Amino acid sequence: MLPNKVGKQLGHPTYSLTEKFKGKKKEQISRGKAVLYCSDLVAMPIEENTVDKVFHCNCYYFWPDLKAGARAIHRVMKPGGTMVTALRLDSVKKVASKNMFSGESWRPEVYMEALQSSGFTDVRMENKREKLITFQAIFATAVK
Ligand SMILES: C[S@@+](CC[C@H](N)C(=O)[O-])C[C@H]1O[C@@H](n2cnc3c(N)ncnc32)[C@H](O)[C@@H]1O
Repeated sequence: MLPNKVGKQLGHPTYSLTEKFKGKKKEQISRGKAVLYCSDLVAMPIEENTVDKVFHCNCYYFWPDLKAGARAIHRVMKPGGTMVTALRLDSVKKVASKNMFSGESWRPEVYMEALQSSGFTDVRMENKREKLITFQAIFATAVK
């Protein structure tokens, strides 16, 4: 959590947010440093142009409409704000090979195209490594 900032975290109504957020997160909520919303992404009750940075991981391949999701994120972000999403492409490909996602929207390039057409620029994917884990991070900057 950034100093002097209030973090906003969104969760889907099918998940139990109270179970998910324990310990440090709970303390941040009670101190007013973090706010949780239980909402579908496209209906998130966050005002437009108010969010500096967005981070999400292991999510976009579950959204029913990638462009609507990308537009929803863009709407709440301040101009010049950075969005980062992380995924493990190898694992995602394994799940996709078992036909567990609908269509091709699990592919990073499909999400990156949705970001670009929704008002993001400098959209790029980088390989990252943290200790023994290799993963991918997609970066995008909101243009308004
Ligand atoms: C595999 S979980 C990942 C959770 C967490 N980011 C992590 O990496 O542990 C996928 C998440 O996407 C969320 N999700 C899927 N569709 C959503 C939607 N339309 N709006 C908001 N959240 C959604 C689900 O609630 C779930 O928390």
